[in-house]
Amino acid sequence: MTTVLETEDLRKQFGDLVAVDDVSLAFDGDDITSIIGPNGAGKTTFYNLLTGVLEPTAGEIWLRKDGDLREITDAPPHEVARSGLSRSYQVTNVFEKLTIRENLQVARIAHDGRTLDVRSRSATDEALNARIDELLELTGLTEQAEIRCDALSHGEKRSVEIALALAIEPTVFLLDEPTAGMNPTETREIVSLIRDLDEELETTFVVTEHDMDVVTDISDRIVVLAEGAVLADGEPRDVLTDERVTEAYLGSEAV
Ligand SMILES: Nc1ncnc2c1ncn2[C@@H]1O[C@H](COP(=O)(O)OP(=O)(O)OP(=O)(O)O)[C@@H](O)[C@H]1O
Ligand SMILES: [Mg+2]
Repeated sequence: MTTVLETEDLRKQFGDLVAVDDVSLAFDGDDITSIIGPNGAGKTTFYNLLTGVLEPTAGEIWLRKDGDLREITDAPPHEVARSGLSRSYQVTNVFEKLTIRENLQVARIAHDGRTLDVRSRSATDEALNARIDELLELTGLTEQAEIRCDALSHGEKRSVEIALALAIEPTVFLLDEPTAGMNPTETREIVSLIRDLDEELETTFVVTEHDMDVVTDISDRIVVLAEGAVLADGEPRDVLTDERVTEAYLGSEAV
């Protein structure tokens, strides 16, 4: 097992409320891990801590970079992204008036720290465009590449968000409810996309999800959060039959 991301006693309090309660988790580079739990369990807050959007009350966060685990606990969001931890963009981060290809160019260029200046137009542009073609292919967007984003369906936009997050070639990619608001067909497509991407890329995928069919379908490992703490952690068949897990969901409409 190669740990790509690790937390140690990670904690977040909002006043008296403990949203993330001393969570120590190591994510294996070979696994797709799902983080599940009832509404308010702390899943999104956990992501916000990992990505530097929120400052932890206590604890540490480590991310693998260039072969070593490095501490990113206090790094701001842009530095975390630069270090290789990406998160699915919200729709608002897609430039609606630009085509899919142009959006990917912007993401790539921003990541490379390059400018649109003519002087930077060198042979590396070819490498950039080749990489973008590859991303389009991987995310099934080749045919729509020249279409403006404001003309895309909800499902297609979700694929663009995923492509944008992958444009920086992250070590770890965190998806927060990737199938939220999707119909069954779109859900199936996004699940198979994530599985394909996991096969094709070095990137490690971590997913939060309420849809148990998706969770069962996609996960090598499931972590259950309840009231901010890890309630269960292991292979899907063990976790999903764990009594404490079914109890945690009792009365919750999520399942
Ligand atoms: N900025 C904030 N200020 C105060 N309380 C917050 C804040 N963000 C989250 N919380 C609280 O922390 C707890 C965990 O919320 P969080 O959004 O992380 O849960 P979640 O597991 O993502 O839930 P859901 O499944 O509904 O998305 C909740 O009680 C929530 O009300
Ligand atoms: Mg959430």
